Amino acid sequence: MAEKARLAVLISGRGSNMAALLYAARLPECPFEIVLVASNVPDAAGLTLAAAEGVPTFTHDHRGMKRADFDALMDVELSRAGATHVALAGYMRLLSDGFVERWAGRMVNIHPSLLPAHKGLDVHEGVLASRETVTGCSVHLVTRELDGGPILGQVRVAVLPDDTPTTLAARVLIAEHQLYPRVIGDWVAAETSPDAIFARVRDLALALPAAREKLSHGSPSFFVEGGKFFAYLSADHHGNGITALLVKASGIEEQASLIERDPDLYFRPAYFGPSGWIGIRLDLGAIDWAHIDDWLTRSWRASAPKRLALLPF
Ligand code: GRF
Repeated sequence: MAEKARLAVLISGRGSNMAALLYAARLPECPFEIVLVASNVPDAAGLTLAAAEGVPTFTHDHRGMKRADFDALMDVELSRAGATHVALAGYMRLLSDGFVERWAGRMVNIHPSLLPAHKGLDVHEGVLASRETVTGCSVHLVTRELDGGPILGQVRVAVLPDDTPTTLAARVLIAEHQLYPRVIGDWVAAETSPDAIFARVRDLALALPAAREKLSHGSPSFFVEGGKFFAYLSADHHGNGITALLVKASGIEEQASLIERDPDLYFRPAYFGPSGWIGIRLDLGAIDWAHIDDWLTRSWRASAPKRLALLPF
């Protein structure tokens, strides 16, 4: 199994969603682990629970601090914990644009309504006031718009005739606890799927001048117009179970020395004969995308016609 996503959970209070995530993370095969529970409220009850369960915690009172300064402080702690993803779970603090940008695509929130209905606070009061018969909860990516990012998952909850905001909130909360771990699990697992990895390689490869894609023996492959192939993607080639990128090193000597230096990451691709093509594994967990980009660029240069290869970029 690929390395787990490293999730930080931000809370301001009770932390029951955080607890749902924490216990889900203990189940075998859960694709995420909780590496930090952080709060802007030092006496948040959820912090005590997280600490008792052996999860690292961080807290700092936000009062008296500028929003951006406080978020920068949080960001330092997230980095220190090695967080790769962030889950907001009852985090009652608006985030600065900078923080939202930095975690774009890697931060989710749970909200106790069927978004886009009933954004913001006093959700259950709103549902009852407008006599709705169905409500629910939503998990969404966090963007600059409050409760407005793309929705990743929802669960519907019936409104009972004698519901009060308190009884309704309690029932919606049960649904939240089911939804949040499931959605986060699917979300982080999808990121490490071969499809998602290939999409990212494709973006990098096709950003190179005159780069084109075509299928070669069923694999997505990239070539330079008027030149040669510079990269192949390989997924479970002949049942080898490996997801990898194949690029061109300078020759068989470099191929051998790369494999000797890092035999987990590099391999000699089958069916390429004695050539300089080198396989780079993409299925070992966190991918060093700058490294992949460097290899694509190098391989592109080795494969492009001279007039293009000499372009300064
Ligand atoms: C939940 O209802 C969540 O949807 C909302 O705040 C509440 C947090 O509850 N964003 P808890 O702290 O997770 O128990």
